Amino acid sequence: MIEIDGTRWDKDRLYKLVEERLGGRLFLVVSNREPYIHTLSDGKLVCHRPVSGLTEALDPVMRASKGRWIAYGSGDGDRQAVDAHNRVAVPPEKPEYSLRRVWLTDEEVRGFYLGFSNEALWPLCHVASTAPVFRDSDWEHYKRANRIFAEAVLDEIGDKEAVVLVQDYHFALLSRLLKEQKPDLTVGQFWHIPWPAYDIFRTCPWPEEILDGLLGNDLLGFHIRPFCLNFMESAKLGLETRLDMERSAVIRRGRPTIVEPFPISVDFDAIHRQASTEEVERKMAALRRELDLEGKCLGIGMDRVDYTKGIPHRLQALDRFFEDNPRYRGKVVFVQAGMPSRTEIDSYRYIGQRIEDLMTGLNRKYATDSWQPVVPMTRQLSPDELTALRRLADFCIVSSLHDGMNLVAKEYIASRTEEDGVLLLSRFTGAAVELPEALLINPFATADFAGKIKQAIEMPLEEQQRRMKAMQRTVAENNIYRWGAAIVSRLMSLAGG
Ligand code: G6P
Repeated sequence: MIEIDGTRWDKDRLYKLVEERLGGRLFLVVSNREPYIHTLSDGKLVCHRPVSGLTEALDPVMRASKGRWIAYGSGDGDRQAVDAHNRVAVPPEKPEYSLRRVWLTDEEVRGFYLGFSNEALWPLCHVASTAPVFRDSDWEHYKRANRIFAEAVLDEIGDKEAVVLVQDYHFALLSRLLKEQKPDLTVGQFWHIPWPAYDIFRTCPWPEEILDGLLGNDLLGFHIRPFCLNFMESAKLGLETRLDMERSAVIRRGRPTIVEPFPISVDFDAIHRQASTEEVERKMAALRRELDLEGKCLGIGMDRVDYTKGIPHRLQALDRFFEDNPRYRGKVVFVQAGMPSRTEIDSYRYIGQRIEDLMTGLNRKYATDSWQPVVPMTRQLSPDELTALRRLADFCIVSSLHDGMNLVAKEYIASRTEEDGVLLLSRFTGAAVELPEALLINPFATADFAGKIKQAIEMPLEEQQRRMKAMQRTVAENNIYRWGAAIVSRLMSLAGG
């Protein structure tokens, strides 16, 4: 990762960096999810922001650059909110940049987003025992949607000098399409999920098109070095390319794509501040009563309900823990808060059902009249309630089978105002590379995992604090603004700015 100086990064500093480095260029971000969504509530337009670290980080970049954000308009009020050019000025309360919405038909969403992005590329890149589904028709829609987005980007750019930052696996072909039309454009892309080994990647029927598309970028970012190396190996074995390991670049037809790690993060200070507010303390008191936590130890899991998150493995480890340690029955409560996700896809519905069945089974096996080992939190929790849960939790389990980074782990760390608590963290997350002080687990090794739960519950306070303080230093320093600054300044240096 490019070295930007070791001091603390915040919103204002990132804003200044962008102002200084961008010069007169237009800055564009492309993502599938939009940073602001308009919905209709009783016929009235309501604008809200999805809870997303990415939007938080790119918001100051966009405000400073007065740039354009191009995204799929998914809200039922989105069309009503835009002007004749499909643009809406955001943030709504103090407009500073413009959001250009791209429209897709239901069929295009099924093929591009649900189909190729989430039933093919998502399982292909995550080694999580769910086989990718490669449908020719999804691939056609994926190509078409990438073209639709490319047209929108080019339309926004016109004849201006521009820098484009593309987000994620929905757009493997976009940068090449842009470069074909405008070879002088500076284009970067951040791939938020893992990149698999070549032997896995090449099971995709269209490996060359995807690799060539991504090599349209001047800069390609992943969270950690191993994903960069997997990608470079795929490019070497799957296409006619040359690797320049010194520059960390793949050269295709004489043009380099720099491939570097940029570990994403959270806004540590904002979460830490929020965690100390009276509102969060009120929510904590309410949750303590609701969950009847007096004299009990609380563990939490908080995930998008996705088969990559290892939620069944976590529940199996808890089962084993209660089996092996009867004296903790009645004394430990585990809250599983899951946000439903991509529920139109079969594999997501199955995993949701499996998790529910496992929780019911566990409760049937161990619950008493006054205690339930696992509490499913299915209601939508507010940001204050989520932070309150993290503050209340003596331990937090992140048991992904494979994960690009995992921000839940970092959010837990940032919420621990007392500098205590134990993070059980899967070795197969990008976060484990940065957070060796967590209790690292292999979610597949049930007996060992159950032993680590016991170790977490019994860990002396001094040891908890030693580990937590070290992790807090790491996350506070390598926060989301440093990620934004690193990727933007690297891209600007390639643009000659
Ligand atoms: C992952 C992806 C993001 C995506 C998010 C939520 O973190 O890397 O690109 O936005 O999941 O998924 P969704 O399909 O709801 O956008």
